[in-house]
Amino acid sequence: MNQILPRPILRGKPMAVDLGPQGGATTAEPSVLVRSFTRQFGDTVVLRDLDLTIAPGEFVALLGRSGSGKTTLLRTLAGLDPVDGQDVLAPESRAVVYQDARLLPWKRVWRNVALGLSGRDARNRAEAALKEVGLGHRLDAWPATLSGGEAQRAAIARALVREPKLLLLDEPFAAVDALTRIRMHELVLSLWRKHAPAVLLVTHDVDEAITLADRVLVLDEGRIAAEERIDLPRPRDGGPTFQAIRRRLLGRLGVELATPVAQPTEGELIAYPSGKSLT
Ligand SMILES: Nc1ncnc2c1ncn2[C@@H]1O[C@H](COP(=O)(O)OP(=O)(O)OP(=O)(O)O)[C@@H](O)[C@H]1O
Ligand SMILES: [Mg+2]
Repeated sequence: MNQILPRPILRGKPMAVDLGPQGGATTAEPSVLVRSFTRQFGDTVVLRDLDLTIAPGEFVALLGRSGSGKTTLLRTLAGLDPVDGQDVLAPESRAVVYQDARLLPWKRVWRNVALGLSGRDARNRAEAALKEVGLGHRLDAWPATLSGGEAQRAAIARALVREPKLLLLDEPFAAVDALTRIRMHELVLSLWRKHAPAVLLVTHDVDEAITLADRVLVLDEGRIAAEERIDLPRPRDGGPTFQAIRRRLLGRLGVELATPVAQPTEGELIAYPSGKSLT
C-alpha cells in the first residue's frame, strides 16, 4: 500500500487507491479505507494500527471474541466516535442496524422509518422501504406490537430508506430465533443485491459470516488478524469448502474442533469406551 492519503478524512469523497490484498482489486475507489488506526480508552488500547479496506458493494463480515473491538470499529466507521485526525475514510451516506431495533415507541412504524427524512415524499419512501422488508401491512402499527423479527426488519427499512453507500450491521440477528434468522439472511442478501451498499456485518456466528459475506475478517488484538475470501456461489450449502473455511475461522477464534465423527445411520451400533452401546 503505497498510497499516501492527503489528509485525515472521515467523509464521503472516494479516492482512487490501490486496495491491496484485502480489497482484491488493484485500483478502485474504496468505500471504506482505514489506515493504521488506533483507538484506546484510558490505558486500554482496543484497536491498534488497524488497516481495513472495503470495496463499494462488498459484503464483509467481522468476527472476533467479545471485547475485541468490533463495535468500536463499527462506531468509528459510523462517525459516532472521534478519529483524532487519523486516516479513516467512510461514505457520508451510511446507516447502522444494531442488535436491538431501537424504534421510538411513541412513533408509528412508518414514522420511525421516515425519521429525519425531509420532503413531502417521506411517507412514500418509508412505505416503499417497509414493503421491501415485508412490512407493508404494518405501516401504522406501534413498535410495541411488532415481533422481534418484524422490529428488526423495520430497523433495516429505516437504514435502507436513505440508500446508504455503507451499511453497518452490529449483530443484527443475534436476538431473533433460528428460523427468523434464516429469513433475515435471505432478506439482507436480496436487499444487498438490489441496493448494492458496502456492508460490514459484525457477528459472533461463523456460519452466518460464511453464508453471507464476500470476505470474512477476524479482529484480534486490535488488528485484522485473519481474512477469508468466500468465493462460493450463493446460496451456500455448507459443503466441504464451507466446512474447511469454517474450521480455519474457528481456529483463528481459538475454537479447535474435534475430528468430525460420522453421523450414525439408523439402527447403527455405536460403541462407547465404557463398553456401553447405543442402538
Ligand atoms: N466508551 C468506552 N469507554 C471505555 N471502554 C470502552 C468503551 N467502549 C468500549 N470499551 C471497551 O473496549 C473494548 C472493546 O469493546 P467493543 O464493544 O468494541 O467490543 P466488541 O468486540 O464489540 O464486543 P462484543 O462482542 O461483546 O459486543 C471492551 O473492553 C470495552 O469494555
Ligand atoms: Mg459489540
